[in-house]
Amino acid sequence: MTKPFKAGILGTGSALPEKKLTNAELESIVETSDEWIIKRTGIRERRILNDEVPLAKLASDAASKAISDAGLKPEDIDLIIAATLSPDYLTPSLSCSVQKEVGAVKAAAFDLNAACSGFIYALQVAQEFIRTGTYSKILVIAAEALSRVTDFTDRKTCVLFGDGAGAVVLGRVEDGTGIESAVMGAMGEGGSVLTLPCFFETETDRANRNEGKKQVIWMDGSEVFTFASRIMGEATGKVLEKAQVTMDEVKYVFPHQANIRILQNASKRLNVPMERIYTNLEFTGNISSASIPVCLDEAARKNMLKKGDKLVLVAFGGGLTYAAALLTWSK
Ligand SMILES: CC(C)(COP(=O)(O)OP(=O)(O)OC[C@H]1O[C@@H](n2cnc3c(N)ncnc32)[C@H](O)[C@@H]1OP(=O)(O)O)[C@@H](O)C(=O)NCCC(=O)NCCS
Repeated sequence: MTKPFKAGILGTGSALPEKKLTNAELESIVETSDEWIIKRTGIRERRILNDEVPLAKLASDAASKAISDAGLKPEDIDLIIAATLSPDYLTPSLSCSVQKEVGAVKAAAFDLNAACSGFIYALQVAQEFIRTGTYSKILVIAAEALSRVTDFTDRKTCVLFGDGAGAVVLGRVEDGTGIESAVMGAMGEGGSVLTLPCFFETETDRANRNEGKKQVIWMDGSEVFTFASRIMGEATGKVLEKAQVTMDEVKYVFPHQANIRILQNASKRLNVPMERIYTNLEFTGNISSASIPVCLDEAARKNMLKKGDKLVLVAFGGGLTYAAALLTWSK
């Protein structure tokens, strides 16, 4: 049997909407305070996509930047996978809209929904196509317009979420770099703690939501908090063990950006100082699947990442789902 190809990140890109929604503005929408939001979540502001702009535009901006950062042309892309739970349409998929917008005329395209774990799920699916040699250049996008599925009368959720898009190009890399190990998992029995109905709703869904609200996120925050705090440590432990790497060898952890207190818990459980846990949620809020690729692109553009650096990506989300990956930076 021939040795599988190694997959790694060749380029990154991200795009955030210009419009900011600050805690002070939220104070005039629901009964809340800047002080409560900062203390309980760490978030100061989030970005909101204008009503007339499709998510596909934001996703395409991130995708174009990733393609050019990889030194490629759109027609070099073989496959596009877009992770999202808030697409413009169920069909055409977000990935097909991006394919058209960026001119990736040779690429196959499909969407994937694993909620906030979606980017790392998509990365692993893409990795398998690279490993087997089926494709050599894959655009992995994660993009969300959560403001369109947020109930701005529910103070327990509306202070948390924002909009944004991140993208990477995955391709063949030399041995010693690229994705070293990865895990993904799901616990469907816990799914009812975080829901976003689509074409169906139960009595419970109706009872949970404020009058007249249907396609909006509802969450039992403390249940998600407990799950997140536990699973981040477990998933990270699994990828380290699989790759026979210790936490001391890891330069940065890129976690899903949901709540600063979850990240502080993770810091204690993993015995990693907060300086090695990348955070930007103060200025973005929780952008679900897009949070990790946006962070990766920010860190790359700040020149924080050097070839050979070991990084852990770890996420949890609705489903319930979780995923982690250990990679050695290839650029
Ligand atoms: C949502 C979350 C911030 C709530 O924080 P918390 O400290 O657990 O707060 P609680 O839900 O226990 O609520 C405590 C009180 O604050 C109130 N409260 C909730 N949101 C508030 C807000 N925005 N402003 C002011 N008060 C608020 C609650 O009504 C409650 O009041 P009560 O005691 O009078 O009923 C937190 O649970 C969380 O971050 N969970 C994880 C969410 C997550 O990661 N989601 C994404 C999954 S990918």
